Amino acid sequence: MFPPKALLSLLFISLTGVDASPLSRSNGKATLGFATKFNEPGNLNFVERDRAHVQSMKQGNGLGKRTPVITTNTGMNYTVQVGVGSPPTNYTLLLDTATSLTWVGADKKYVATESSHDTGHRVSAAYSYGTFSGEEWIDTITLSPDLVVNQQSIGVATQTTDFVLDVDGYLGLGPLDLTENHVEGESTVPTVMDNLHSQGTISEEVLGIYFKPDVHLGELTFGGYDESAIRGPMSYFPVTTTSPASEYWGTNLSIDYGEDTIMSLSAGIFDTDSAFIFVPTDVFEKYMAKTSATKDAATGLLTITSEQYDTLEQLVFHIGDVPFVLTPNAQIWPRSRNYVFGGSPDKIYLVVADFEGYAKPGFEFVLGYTFLERYYSVFDTPNNRIGLALTDYTYAELS
Ligand SMILES: *[C@@H]1O[C@H](CO)[C@@H](O)[C@H](O)[C@H]1NC(C)=O
Ligand SMILES: *[C@@H]1O[C@H](CO)[C@@H](O)[C@H](O)[C@H]1NC(C)=O
Ligand SMILES: *[C@@H]1O[C@H](CO)[C@@H](O)[C@H](O)[C@H]1NC(C)=O
Repeated sequence: MFPPKALLSLLFISLTGVDASPLSRSNGKATLGFATKFNEPGNLNFVERDRAHVQSMKQGNGLGKRTPVITTNTGMNYTVQVGVGSPPTNYTLLLDTATSLTWVGADKKYVATESSHDTGHRVSAAYSYGTFSGEEWIDTITLSPDLVVNQQSIGVATQTTDFVLDVDGYLGLGPLDLTENHVEGESTVPTVMDNLHSQGTISEEVLGIYFKPDVHLGELTFGGYDESAIRGPMSYFPVTTTSPASEYWGTNLSIDYGEDTIMSLSAGIFDTDSAFIFVPTDVFEKYMAKTSATKDAATGLLTITSEQYDTLEQLVFHIGDVPFVLTPNAQIWPRSRNYVFGGSPDKIYLVVADFEGYAKPGFEFVLGYTFLERYYSVFDTPNNRIGLALTDYTYAELS
């Protein structure tokens, strides 16, 4: 499920002071604000590490389920502020829809209050980043002032390895069965999501994701999408039937650069945990030729001059009848983010990368964070479809 540990000896880049906004509630929907943090590439080239992540994902997570929507195992961490106890103590937790335990205490110590009850059961889990073990408590969780989950099972860490300062634990938003065998004496324990469902806060298994890349924030909406975040209609299209992309959040699409089709209709996936837009080698080479980009030896990324940037054309992803455009600005890494992959601050790097031997029939491309930060995305399990809509960031000029 996770890339080898060695890939994850990553440096911590602090964007501290970035606070996620809390969860708000309306009609079977709940929106949780989170913060995004980039990890530095460490000893592995950034693009290489990202490809390795996709490869590990293709090997399957062993659950027979769609690829997780938000996890914290590769180039980015998504964190959220959660209050525990009454009165609450605030903790910074890693947001993860691929695991289901919620626990605190890796950095900031757990504070027992009058709402806290120790069950005495041992709890443990292992992640790509490290391990945790401790004791189960039942407590009140505050996601926002008007969204309080009572009687939530949480882990309180007595021992953790490899968690950085500032990260206090996990908010696990995955399904109930993933809590199996983690808590001694209990087969499964109701998750925060279960309790949100049983309170009637969340109606459907639909996740909406909105990134605000300039401020390093995001919003995860359960049970639908946030109408206030989209501009224009939501376009839905079916999950591809082509395997293996069909096992993930996959779609059929074709790609044009300017007037020319550079990729004919193919199947691939969306993945919030990949940073790049990976395309098959022949498509990458066409794109490279048309943009006159060169490969930067230091980072492995495509780079262009500012003169070449001025003549970049639109990169258009056609899904069904709908074109989704990446403007020239959306095809480059914002310069302020070049440090993430060890790039030079004044060079221009492109977000399109070669999928190399990882591209296979039925799994030709990956649209990662650099695509998803430009569109609102909806992952709709009951209707087996994906939605995309414009946001304020679709055509924004990020610097
Ligand atoms: C805890 O977080 C909430 C929401 O971010 C905030 O309103 C509150 O002031 C925080 N409390 C403390 C004690 O920091
Ligand atoms: C993300 O969290 C993990 C676990 O604490 C840590 O190892 C990693 O350095 C963090 N990265 C960032 C950018 O916060
Ligand atoms: C996707 O492409 C495949 C192969 O061309 C085709 O069989 C399928 O009907 C297309 N549409 C969907 C929704 O999968």
